[in-house]
Amino acid sequence: MKSTANESNLVKVNVWDLFIRIFHWLLAVLIVVMLVSANFGYFDIHITTGKTIVILVIARLIWGIVGSSNARFTALVFKPSAYINYIKTLPQRKPGYSLAHSPIGSLAVIAILGFLVFQLTTGLFAADVDGLVEGPFAYYISYELSRTASDLHLQNVDWLISIIVLHIAANLFYYFYKRDNLIKPMFTGSRSVPKDKSQDPPRLASPWRGLIVVAIVAAIMIWIYVQYG
Ligand code: HEM
Ligand code: HEM
Repeated sequence: MKSTANESNLVKVNVWDLFIRIFHWLLAVLIVVMLVSANFGYFDIHITTGKTIVILVIARLIWGIVGSSNARFTALVFKPSAYINYIKTLPQRKPGYSLAHSPIGSLAVIAILGFLVFQLTTGLFAADVDGLVEGPFAYYISYELSRTASDLHLQNVDWLISIIVLHIAANLFYYFYKRDNLIKPMFTGSRSVPKDKSQDPPRLASPWRGLIVVAIVAAIMIWIYVQYG
C-alpha cells in the first residue's frame, strides 16, 4: 500500500533539545501568570514571576551562543533570497519537514524575544504613581524615569501580546492548512521526516549543558536581586 510505503520511508529525527522545550512551555505559562497577576493587582506574584522570567530569558540568550545548532542566533539569520523562496512555499498544502526554525519562524522568534527583553527591562525599573509598586531596580533611577519605564512597560504589552497571537495563529495555519504538526515536536522533541529530509539533523546540546547554563545564570541573578534588588 502506498501510504505504508511512505510511512516506512519516514525516519525519526530529534529536533528540539530539552532546554528549548522546557524554556518554551515554562515561558508560555509564566507570561499568562504575568498578565493575570498584573490585571488582578497581585504585584508580589507579578514581580517574583518577572524576576524568574528574566533568568529564563538570559539563559535562552546564552543558549543562542552555546546551545544546540538550531537554537543558535546564527541559525536565526538567513540570506534575503531564503525568505522569498520560503514565502513562495507557504501556499502549498504539504508539510515542510523543517528541522529548525524556518526563515519566517525565525523572524517571529527574534520579535518575541526582542519585545520580551524590552518588557522585562522596563519592568525591572518601573514604579507606579505613588511608588508603592516598584520593579527591583527602580530605586536606582529617578521617579520620572521609572514612570517613563512604566509607560513603556504598559505600551509594550500590546505589542508582545500581538506577536504571540500571531505566533499561535501561524502554528494553527501550519497544523490545519499545511498539515504540518510543529506543536508535537515542541513537546516530544522529535518528528518523523522522509529520509531525504533527514540528512542534516541538528546537533543537539546535552541537557547537562542546559542545566549548567541555567544554574550559573540563576546563581548570578539571585545574588544580584538579593544584593541590589
Ligand atoms: C512578560 C513579562 C511582563 C508582562 C506581560 C507584564 C505586564 C504588565 C502589565 C499588563 C502591567 C500593568 C498593570 C496595570 O494595569 O496596572 C504591568 C505593571 C507592572 N509590572 Fe509588569 N509585566 C512583565 C514583566 C515585569 C517584570 C520583569 C517586572 C519587574 C520585575 C515587572 C514589574 C511591573 C511593575 C512594577 C508594574 C507596575 C507599574 C505601574 O503600575 O505603573 N513587570 N506589567
Ligand atoms: C505566551 C505564549 C508563547 C510564547 C511567549 C512563545 C514563544 C516562543 C518562542 C520564543 C519560540 C522560539 C523557541 C526558541 O528557539 O527558543 C517558540 C517556538 C515555538 N512555539 Fe511558541 N510561544 C508561545 C505559545 C505557543 C503555543 C500556544 C504554541 C502551540 C500552539 C506554540 C508553539 C510553538 C512551536 C511549534 C514552536 C517551534 C516553531 C518552529 O518549528 O520553528 N507556542 N515560541
